[in-house]
Amino acid sequence: MTKHNLEWFSSVWHINTVNPWLSKYNVKTHDVVEGHVCPYPEELVFRLVTLFSKKGDYVLDPFCGSGTTNYAALSLFRKTIGYDIEKRYINIAKERCNNRGRFICGSSTDMEECYSNSIQLCVTSPPYLSLKKYSDNPDSIGNAKDPYKLLKEVFEEVYRVLKKGGYFCMNVGGVPDGHGGMTTFPHDMIYMCLDMGFKFKHTIVWDKGVFLNDWNIHQCRMRENHEFVWVFEK
Ligand SMILES: C[S@@+](CC[C@H](N)C(=O)[O-])C[C@H]1O[C@@H](n2cnc3c(N)ncnc32)[C@H](O)[C@@H]1O
Repeated sequence: MTKHNLEWFSSVWHINTVNPWLSKYNVKTHDVVEGHVCPYPEELVFRLVTLFSKKGDYVLDPFCGSGTTNYAALSLFRKTIGYDIEKRYINIAKERCNNRGRFICGSSTDMEECYSNSIQLCVTSPPYLSLKKYSDNPDSIGNAKDPYKLLKEVFEEVYRVLKKGGYFCMNVGGVPDGHGGMTTFPHDMIYMCLDMGFKFKHTIVWDKGVFLNDWNIHQCRMRENHEFVWVFEK
């Protein structure tokens, strides 16, 4: 406990978001390399993995993207598995993790490589509907006509593979409705998981810091600078 910042035990975490452009900058070659469009910060995952798993446990990310979850899990001496539909993201994740951990390129609607009741912790951030374009792959959830159906299939798989008492930490943020308001997407994910048997345990509000150029005080325009981490238990 003494090593840990006390903020870990509060329900608001202040962690600067990752600038996707910075993450594309290769310091060795000075090139802007192709990276992931929206990685989450390592710090966010370090905290979740530390709090909800032990050394030697399995940590899963069914939407691993650039492998942030897997990298954090390995650094904390956990075993790890990642799925992503996009080959180029899987390649980034493998390189980032020095080819440790297991990575599967395919849809996490079917995680047949994972035994039932075998995983202690799942940390993930699903596609926020079609907010970001990850790929042209028609099986990518952001491109699907009915993304809720596919998200439900993935979360049912997460439920199957988690051990009883295992945790599922889902990072979700606001999605504009296209008419000047916000959808209820993050909150819909809670009801979806409750319906399949998960227990809803905690809410962590991730304060992502201030984007000065998005703040226009004269027009009283605010931009959401927070996301949620919903914590469920099987
Ligand atoms: C929000 S991003 C995850 C980013 C990741 N947390 C990181 O730090 O890089 C969501 C990911 O889900 C992947 N994805 C979309 N549909 C998928 C599916 N059916 N199965 C597996 N991955 C999928 C996308 O390619 C994208 O990389």
